[in-house]
Amino acid sequence: MGVLSFRPRSETFAAIDGTGPDGFRAAVLAGLARRQKTIPSRFFYDERGSILFEDITRLAEYYPTRAELEIFITDGAEIAELAAGCRALIEYGSGSSRKIRALLSALPELACYAPIDISLQMLKQEAAELARDFPALRVVPVHADIMGEVDLPASVPREGRLAFFPGSTIGNFLPREAFSFLKRVGSSVGPGGFLLIGVDLKKDEATLIRAYDDGAGVTAAFNLNLLERVNRELGGDFDLSAFAHEVRYNRERGRIEMHLRSRADQQVTVEGQVFAFARGETIHTENSHKFTIGEFHLLARAAGYEPLRCWSDAEALFSVHLLKWGETD
Ligand code: AVI
Repeated sequence: MGVLSFRPRSETFAAIDGTGPDGFRAAVLAGLARRQKTIPSRFFYDERGSILFEDITRLAEYYPTRAELEIFITDGAEIAELAAGCRALIEYGSGSSRKIRALLSALPELACYAPIDISLQMLKQEAAELARDFPALRVVPVHADIMGEVDLPASVPREGRLAFFPGSTIGNFLPREAFSFLKRVGSSVGPGGFLLIGVDLKKDEATLIRAYDDGAGVTAAFNLNLLERVNRELGGDFDLSAFAHEVRYNRERGRIEMHLRSRADQQVTVEGQVFAFARGETIHTENSHKFTIGEFHLLARAAGYEPLRCWSDAEALFSVHLLKWGETD
């Protein structure tokens, strides 16, 4: 799967969305100065972070990737049937998608595939491979940040657009960000266009916690890599052994939160600025919102969509929704 602009991305091309050196510096300095210290999760995906994320998706405990794939395998034919008239598939945050090929083969009318990603390197590589494997398809890579306005080139047909946003990356957005993202996608698919989106479901807390705190410590390494990135790129002096990976389920907000907890009273210097940590104080590094089907339908309807169908895996861990954009703009 690819992940959201939260997907694996290359450092080299990250300048356009604020994950480049200046955006990272500003976000870290401002985030560490807050009462609840924070570093936004979009900064996880440097080269090592992207590799660690791919490792996470293969962990036994991290069910979302496996459950979503199961849905595409089991229900792919029905999904394709409902979206059969679509001419253009637009993938938001395409990354290194494993699911897209099945969808491309299943849609008979498809003339164009437009992957949107912040990583130019990944985009070019994927586009070249897909163009080779699907010679009848026009592949139109779009280098952009999915969190902003995305201008689709005129070569992407206006009629019959299907947007694709797998992986429950929507869960990493705050509710207001999720709402505006859905609206932006809706206006780019246009009236009668569709969105196929993966959404992680609410479930027992132990399963959720395990998925973000695996036995092999891969997610811990992914979380701590943020501090390594600060040290490397911003001349920070974080002692990684003085911070612990912490996962909480925030029931009120319906989200997993990842934090880095200071094991001692300590001071850390980043770009010449000193930040004091009390023992037990945390840096909040990620939110991963979970939904019931009903909650997601409410959000989708509020953003202007009509939910057409949704599917879940046999254990009801994950859901995939086909939404129709109902607003005229
Ligand atoms: C990319 N995103 C959907 C993942 C998630 O589950 O929220 C990121 C992740 N963080 C820790 N493990 C996976």
